[in-house]
Amino acid sequence: MKHLKITAVLKEEKLLQEICVNGWVRSFRNNRFIALNDGSTLNNLQCVIEDNTIDTEISNRIHTGASLTIKGVLKESEGRGQRVELIATTIDIEGDANPEEVKTTILSPKKHSLELLREQAHLRIRTNTFGAIMRVRSKLSFAVHQYFQERDFFYVHTPIITSSDAEGAGETFKVTHLNLDDLPVGEDGATDYKKDFFGKETNLTVSGQLEGETYAMGLGNIYTFGPTFRAENSNTSRHLAEFWMIEPEMAFCNLDQNMDVAEEFIKYVIKYVLDNCGDDLAFLEKRLLDEEKQKPLEQRSEMPLREKLKFILNNNFKRVSYSEAIEILKDSKPNKKKKFKFPVNEWGVDLQSEHERYLVEKHFKCPVILFNYPAKIKAFYMRLNEDGNTVRAMDILFPGIGEIVGGSQREERLDVLKEKMDELGVSQEELYWYLDTRRYGSCTHSGFGLGFERLVLFVTGMTNVRDVIPYPRTPMNAEF
Ligand code: 4AD
Ligand code: MG
Repeated sequence: MKHLKITAVLKEEKLLQEICVNGWVRSFRNNRFIALNDGSTLNNLQCVIEDNTIDTEISNRIHTGASLTIKGVLKESEGRGQRVELIATTIDIEGDANPEEVKTTILSPKKHSLELLREQAHLRIRTNTFGAIMRVRSKLSFAVHQYFQERDFFYVHTPIITSSDAEGAGETFKVTHLNLDDLPVGEDGATDYKKDFFGKETNLTVSGQLEGETYAMGLGNIYTFGPTFRAENSNTSRHLAEFWMIEPEMAFCNLDQNMDVAEEFIKYVIKYVLDNCGDDLAFLEKRLLDEEKQKPLEQRSEMPLREKLKFILNNNFKRVSYSEAIEILKDSKPNKKKKFKFPVNEWGVDLQSEHERYLVEKHFKCPVILFNYPAKIKAFYMRLNEDGNTVRAMDILFPGIGEIVGGSQREERLDVLKEKMDELGVSQEELYWYLDTRRYGSCTHSGFGLGFERLVLFVTGMTNVRDVIPYPRTPMNAEF
């Protein structure tokens, strides 16, 4: 007997055969119709109990949430709403679910708020919404690898525990094996990290870029795709303390080529989910429409989800220099009417998410790549332009999201890089290995980092990153 996943059953051409399925009960109607879901697809399999075929001792234990093994015969469905259904011949209860207890959880079949689902993150994967999001997330991950692997990029596993702070923002989580209640103190009165596990101070990585660059200097084109940790105390719908980042790094590649790859890459993975996650995207699109019905018109999305994704595929990202962007912002209505929380009045200011969203959503109405930022507001490793003021940085801004990608051409000139490190207080001694890449066969090279959750957010039409990662880590929250 064929043991099938429900996604396969629903596509099965050969009827009247006996098959076996497993899954969880979503609903049980009229003591007759079981809607069974095994997670392989959004769609449930309708399993039918015909009169007197299953012991009442068993059928009395069929409730929402219970897990079953059902053997039966696949038939064309008489009812509307499905092509096939399974006429049960035997049903085994794998695990009961007490209906009184189920009622107190989000497994109970009614609409629950996303906030409540977050509190029960260990159960929310049994809902249609989270099943859809997590299947899309998985397909997107696969597409990330497929894009790079098809183009001869090598996947590199950069360390999770490091002794460097690649972004220099000081937002790292410390890693220590010392007894925090009894710290060893050195002669200078400070904690003596020589006595710690690694013999020095260590932290969780904020970016695999620096190690990635050293590997690009041997393998040519590489990418990383791993967890990243930032102790930013920003309680927003776009920040996580633990998120996944994709960081390609390319030798012999300049900023323009870097932008080309980033744009092509994003379009590729979006096309992949459009082609491979039709049911889930259709469901998420409808979910968003329903959710937005309660919002005032001007706060609703301009396009349905799948149309929005196709719009990305069919339009070039608008490439704009930081200086041009500042002029646009200075002249903008919200700036003149003092509607921005951070007014834009001079060249050199850092752009806030309100500015990014204005550029993308109101001014250009398409994804924007901003480039050539002031050196002062960017990291030490970015290539200084000939003007001496700007660096070859680029950020990609998306509607509804803001920054989705941050990248740059890297400073390949040893002397300029050293000077910059001294200026910003980045230790040359600590990063001697990074400087070595500029000593032995340095070359023009570039890369970028894409925040995976922000991409999943965009593709699924969700609005909070906490809802697109299984167990979100945010300030004051590390449950599960
Ligand atoms: O702009 P960021 O800080 O760039 C880097 O880390 C570079 N080392 C990348 C590179 O050039 N290889 O971060 C890159 C992206 C952001 O654009 C954003 O999408 C995401 O990572 N990101 C976050 N996502 C969720 N939560 C956070 N706290 C994030 N911080 C950054
Ligand atoms: Mg950034």
